[in-house]
This record gives sequence, structure tokens and C-alpha cells, in this order.
Amino acid sequence: MSRPQLLARLALACEQRARDALLRRVRTISAVDGSHVVVAGRRLQNFASNDYLGLAGHAQLVEALIDAARQWGVGASAAHLLGGHRDEHAQLESELAEWTGRERALLFSTGYMANLGVIQTLLDPRALCVQDKLNHVCLIDGARLSGARLKRYVHADVDSARRQLQSDPEAAALLASDGVFSMDGDIAPLRELASLCREQQTTLMIDDAHGLGVLGHNGAGSVVEAGLDADDVPVLMATLGKALGVAGAFVAGSASLIDGLVQFARTQVYTTAMPPALAAATRVALRIARDETWRREKLARLVAQFRHGAAQRGIPLAASRTPIQPVLIGDSATALDVSARLETAGFLVPAIRPPTVPEHSARLRVTFSAAHEEADIERLLAALSSAMTGP
Ligand SMILES: Cc1ncc(COP(=O)(O)O)c(C=O)c1O
Repeated sequence: MSRPQLLARLALACEQRARDALLRRVRTISAVDGSHVVVAGRRLQNFASNDYLGLAGHAQLVEALIDAARQWGVGASAAHLLGGHRDEHAQLESELAEWTGRERALLFSTGYMANLGVIQTLLDPRALCVQDKLNHVCLIDGARLSGARLKRYVHADVDSARRQLQSDPEAAALLASDGVFSMDGDIAPLRELASLCREQQTTLMIDDAHGLGVLGHNGAGSVVEAGLDADDVPVLMATLGKALGVAGAFVAGSASLIDGLVQFARTQVYTTAMPPALAAATRVALRIARDETWRREKLARLVAQFRHGAAQRGIPLAASRTPIQPVLIGDSATALDVSARLETAGFLVPAIRPPTVPEHSARLRVTFSAAHEEADIERLLAALSSAMTGP
């Protein structure tokens, strides 16, 4: 018998990744101070975080977390259906529903679990799941888990999406798209997708992980910015660990969607509820994100300043107006090298390589936060331009 050995096979796959300059490496942050982090004893300015509104370290969130932990303890101690659902969760769910203009909302412990749970609930092997090629991996994995026929369309190409839907006009169908694409920063053609879904009697699901808090009136997200409502986008998902600075996620929609998820979403039913103290901190984050418009305005100014400066210096950027600003490089080894040079210059800017992005499209993923200042952007631009041209 010569059965392949799993651990040896895994080690070989890692070695291959290293040879291809694709090995991933965990960096341990030993301290955080505003938009700075300490890594390996060095203080770096952080341009790698999704804390777009600068809320992750906000004193009011920290206080809310501590107060709620004193009241509720640390863990929720059970799944939502089995005694883990506390007042803080219930209140947060109604506030999220109200903010996003939906009837109800349901909390999940992570965005990954929310997408797995909702897609697996809605689809079965006879159904069609049509997705943008650049969708986040957890939307793709949700379709795989459901057993539905997964058909991917050319990025942001509504005609390509239509062709995929028309491949089986009789099947129940879900079209799922990121609202803001996580590695590209561009926004899906939401109005066109909504009208395609109406025409094709298809349910539209938007993952607004990177749009909530950042786009739209009161930060209600990319769907609101596009002028769409709950009829256009019946399934809305967003995360709490990015602009809201906490952790977790929710799905918002009609009462019947949420009732169905409570019954069938396995990643919600069979898991411990998020700690109630996190729900309490998120409620404060939601209020600040909704009311403190200056954070969104400042963020937009910083993004515009960066794009203007990059154009002047010939730094190639993707077409994005969100706080996700990819610097296009192509080759993985070069992207790693530029990222290392930036680190030497005092900036944390990760290189994103395949398989997270398509082959030959390695990039630096620069992200901005309302915690950054104009002078930070100027310093980053100067460092970027010398890191990309230097010997
Ligand atoms: C578009 C998108 N959806 C979902 C997720 C997953 O969310 P979470 O980190 O809460 O699991 C992410 C990133 O993490 C994301 O970028």
C-alpha cells in the first residue's frame, strides 16, 4: 500500500508557495496606537486595516465593551436559540435593520459564517448561483456548500451575468455580488444588477462588508448610495469588523427571510452567539458611524488626496473611489519587495498575491482610515514612489 500522506503533501504545497513568492506570513502586532502599530519592535503607520472610520480603538466603544462585560460576563454561553440571545443582541439587530432600511436583521459571529449560512439556506443543488468573478471567497464557498450550480460572470459585467442566468431560465436563482470589492475597491454596478434581477426573476444578494459605514446617506452603505431599497436587494449582508471597528456580521431583509434563517442557517443555529459585550460596543459604533458624518467626509478627502498625488507621481492605481486603493504591480515577488521597502520606510502595506487575486495581478492593498491625517498621506506617497522606483 502506498497511500499519499496528507501532512507530507501539505508541506510540499507550502514549499511550492514559497518558490512562487506566494507564501503567506502572519505578522504579530505587539502594540496599537491610533493609526500606528508596532511590529517586530518597529513602529509602523498602518495602511493595512479595514478600520475605515477609525472606531476600533474609540474610547466610547471600549467603555461600552467593558460596561457590558461587567453586566453580562464575557461569553454568551450558548447559541442564540438556546439561551445565548441577550437584550444587547436584540437591540443591535433592530438598530441595524433600521439603519439599512430593512424589516429585520440577524446577527452572525463572522461575515464568513453569514455568507455561508444565508446562501446554504436559500439554495439547493437544483438552483443556480450567479456570482461576480471577483466576489469574496466566502460567497463562493457558500455556493459550494449549498451544492447549487455556481456560474461566475466577468467582473462587473451585467451582460455576462445575464448570459449566466439565461443558461437555465427555469431554475430558482440567486445573484450575489460584493457591494465594494474587497481587493479592488471598486463598486458593483448595483442599479444594473437590480434591474437584471427584476428582469430575470432572480433574488439579488449584496455583501456590503466594505460599503457599510463608508458609503451612502448616514453611512447606510453602497445599496442606499445607489438609491436601491429592500425590494431591489432583498438579501443584504454586511460585517461589523470593518468600518464599525468591532467583529461579527448581520443579514438584513424581510421578516420572512430572517425567520427562515433562524430555522435553517446552520452557521447561525449551531454556534455560540457573539459575546453580548461586542454587541453593546457595536451599538455605540453604529451610532457614531451614522451620526459623525465628518469621518466619512475626511476619509473621502484623504482618498482624493492620495489619488491626486499618485497620479502626479505616476503610481498606477486601480479605478476606485473607496478607501481601498490598490497599487497595481503584477508580479508577486516585486509586490513583496515593494511592501518590504515600505516597511523599512515605516509603513505597513501588505502585498496581495494569488490566489487571493487573479494570476499576474499582485498588488499593494492600501487602505485609508479617518484616523489618518493629510501629512500621513503625503509621507506614504513619497515612500511609495521611491519604493517603486528605487534600486
Ligand atoms: C466582501 C467580504 N465579505 C465577507 C468578509 C468576511 O467577513 P468577516 O471578516 O467578518 O468574516 C470579508 C472580509 O473579511 C469581505 O471582504
